[in-house]
Amino acid sequence: MSGFVEKPDPAQVPGLVHLHTGKVRDLYRNETGDLVMVASDRTSAYDWVLPTEIPDKGRILTQLSLWWFEQLADIVPNHVISTDVPEGAPADWEGRTMVCRSLRMIPVECVARGYLTGSGLKEYERSRTVCGLALPEGLTDGSELPGPLFTPATKAEVGEHDENVSYEEVARQVGADTAALLRQATLAIYQRARDIARERGIILADTKFEFGFAEGKGGSGDGAAEGELVLADEVLTPDSSRFWPADQWQPGRPQPSFDKQFVRDWLTSPASGWDHNGEQPPPPLPPEIVEQTRAKYAEAYRLLTGLPWS
Ligand SMILES: Nc1ncnc2c1ncn2[C@@H]1O[C@H](COP(=O)(O)OP(=O)(O)OP(=O)(O)O)[C@@H](O)[C@H]1O
Ligand SMILES: [Mg+2]
Repeated sequence: MSGFVEKPDPAQVPGLVHLHTGKVRDLYRNETGDLVMVASDRTSAYDWVLPTEIPDKGRILTQLSLWWFEQLADIVPNHVISTDVPEGAPADWEGRTMVCRSLRMIPVECVARGYLTGSGLKEYERSRTVCGLALPEGLTDGSELPGPLFTPATKAEVGEHDENVSYEEVARQVGADTAALLRQATLAIYQRARDIARERGIILADTKFEFGFAEGKGGSGDGAAEGELVLADEVLTPDSSRFWPADQWQPGRPQPSFDKQFVRDWLTSPASGWDHNGEQPPPPLPPEIVEQTRAKYAEAYRLLTGLPWS
């Protein structure tokens, strides 16, 4: 089982059309044709969007994304137009809103991996490959790969897991030129981000990017020229990436998750009374787990950006 324990209703804002409610973010279109992305405080674990929110999470992750977009701006243009809260929107949208240029999205989840775990590890254990790329013997859960890999996936339907695909399959789907652009941009961004995170005591094990092409009129966004590759969605947040505390890194076992370890540990402990392999939705989180998790997001923000979360 998976899904929302309680699916929230989108806010009604004059001039905005609600397009989509994701696990964490709500998406609207404004009157100019730009996208308005609003990151909620929702969190997910074991394929469930939990019934308890983590205060500040959406704001911290939005600010982190914006910070990363800036760190990467010399490598690739991004879709951010502004962080202005649309008129008539809830005051609570402050700090969690990104107005973005609407792009022609490329339907590939552009994953970069520097370390072996998750679906990559599963494939490696079957065939010594990840996304069809051959790897040396002897790697284990959490091992650093000989070099970062572009391991694309195709977006699954709601509730399904993304499916890893080979580079050749991506080239068939989007064309050889676009596939090459995606791989080159994904690896360049990953390497920049990995090095920044590593200096700050955090291992960026893997991460996912989405890209689109800038289109003709481009709403109110300027910057990228027509047809140029643009970095979209959120970037390098704990929701789109695996961050591991470097001082606890120890290949051969699952690595602790920077942000969600308290949540996972509690949900799988007898205290929660919940069976994560069963049919029942997860219970609400207790206040101390919420607070510890909120503190982890704030710490991730502080460590990565060097700025206090206030
Ligand atoms: N600049 C952009 N132009 C057009 N679409 C975009 C842009 N940036 C992101 N998107 C799309 O907006 C959507 C954001 O959805 P969101 O990530 O909240 O939910 P989801 O992808 O359906 O599910 P999940 O919660 O698992 O990520 C995605 O479909 C993403 O591809
Ligand atoms: Mg998404």
